[in-house]
Amino acid sequence: MSNRVDLDTLTKFARRKGFVYPGSEIYGGLANTWDYGNLGVLLKQNIKQTWKQHFIYSRTDMKELDAGILMNQRVWEASGHTETFADALVDDKNTKHRFRADHLIEEQLGIDIEGKTGPEITEIIRSNNLKNPLTGKEGDWTEARYMNLMFETNRDKINPQNPDTRIYLRPETAQGIFVQFKNIVQTERAKLPFGVGQIGKAFRNEITPGNFIFRVVEFEQMEIEYFIKPPQNDDGWNTIFEEWLKSQENFLTYKMGFDPENFQHKEHSQEKLSHYSKRTVDLDFNFSFGFSELTGLAYRTDFDLKQHQEHSKQKIEYTDPSNGEKTIPHVIEPTVGMDRLFLAVMTEHYKEEQLENDTRIVLGLPYDLAPYKLAVLPLMKKDGLKEKGEKIFRDLRSQGIMCDYDEAGSIGKRYRRQDENGTPWCMAIDYQTMEDNTVTLRHRDTMEQIRIPHEKLNEYLNQEKYNSLTNK
Ligand code: GAP
Repeated sequence: MSNRVDLDTLTKFARRKGFVYPGSEIYGGLANTWDYGNLGVLLKQNIKQTWKQHFIYSRTDMKELDAGILMNQRVWEASGHTETFADALVDDKNTKHRFRADHLIEEQLGIDIEGKTGPEITEIIRSNNLKNPLTGKEGDWTEARYMNLMFETNRDKINPQNPDTRIYLRPETAQGIFVQFKNIVQTERAKLPFGVGQIGKAFRNEITPGNFIFRVVEFEQMEIEYFIKPPQNDDGWNTIFEEWLKSQENFLTYKMGFDPENFQHKEHSQEKLSHYSKRTVDLDFNFSFGFSELTGLAYRTDFDLKQHQEHSKQKIEYTDPSNGEKTIPHVIEPTVGMDRLFLAVMTEHYKEEQLENDTRIVLGLPYDLAPYKLAVLPLMKKDGLKEKGEKIFRDLRSQGIMCDYDEAGSIGKRYRRQDENGTPWCMAIDYQTMEDNTVTLRHRDTMEQIRIPHEKLNEYLNQEKYNSLTNK
């Protein structure tokens, strides 16, 4: 953990470079909301595209969906969220600090309070004289109260308490896939086993959000529901479960470029499993504040489809085309939070390198993730170098190569700016370029420079993409 960039440094770096800005800043902010700037948008887009390529497009058994954020409120009754998607919270009356009761108790007593009522939790906290972790002093604790994490609004503006028009912002993307299961099977003529992947926003009114973009109230999820025949025995689902776990690990290692030492399995104990799950394994990542959940993998059985069948009174079955047998499929769900993965990518690849006279900050992103693949840097603004550089820049952009252009300051400063952006190559345009159309390429990681004919550029970029995937 010691070689990890600390969160404060990373937050300031992300803001200074325009990866992530604090939300609503000119109005004093809005706690735990963040906006992605230009580089952040590009990095996010590349992470999503890499996720899709790995989990969806490189396979032949996957479909996609983009469901709405707003759904009929009965969806959340069926899924169990209205009833059980709640955390118990307590306030310290001395300081007005608010905490999640389960975190407080687990940290100080090592006890799991899953399933305990509000009064039972209050009793545990008060009888053990728990401390306020922010002051280190014993707290004067309120009663523990459960708070549902779903944000809600109401379509009826005249009577906003009208329960029939209540509407929730979805707390997970998964339910959209279950609700559309019938349509997907029909229109795609999908045969088991098959999966549906989706990227989209989810909202949770977290009691204690924080740690930069680790726990936020508005975030994106990248989720897959992989439907299988009802298994005859545990092997029937566990083999597929293990395959997905391996695929998640491969994604983190080979596509996100993470050192395998920086993530580890966390198998949920039977008592800690969510109401819908028979087995859950998280991959915890070595964030600067310690190992914490990055991805999840759950065997949700046929819980969700059965619930929706019961609540909607519609048959949600799959008909086996080979024998006409009707069943309700079971499901395995690999999921990851986009924003959390973004933080993990920044944490893993941010490096401060001690050089002879100063420190170089490098964001050593794999080629596919880098916001810019190349930066065009004319050595001078005069003698036609600027115009030449601008032309190359425009041509590359129109060919679909995402690159940057920078003519401000010394070439050394410009290299450093691109090192911080994570740009693998810088292309310097100098007087020789004007004579023989050769350019200098300087590599981010080695800082080595080579001179190549301009028309060979694509070859070098392709080689870089290839190396970045195979070096791991
Ligand atoms: N459909 C299953 C599901 O939603 P989850 O473990 O509650 O499972 C999945 O969420 C992933 O979403 C987590 O592994 C995490 O990466 C991300 N996530 C959950 N809550 C989050 C929050 N408040 N802020 C950022 N990411 C979050």
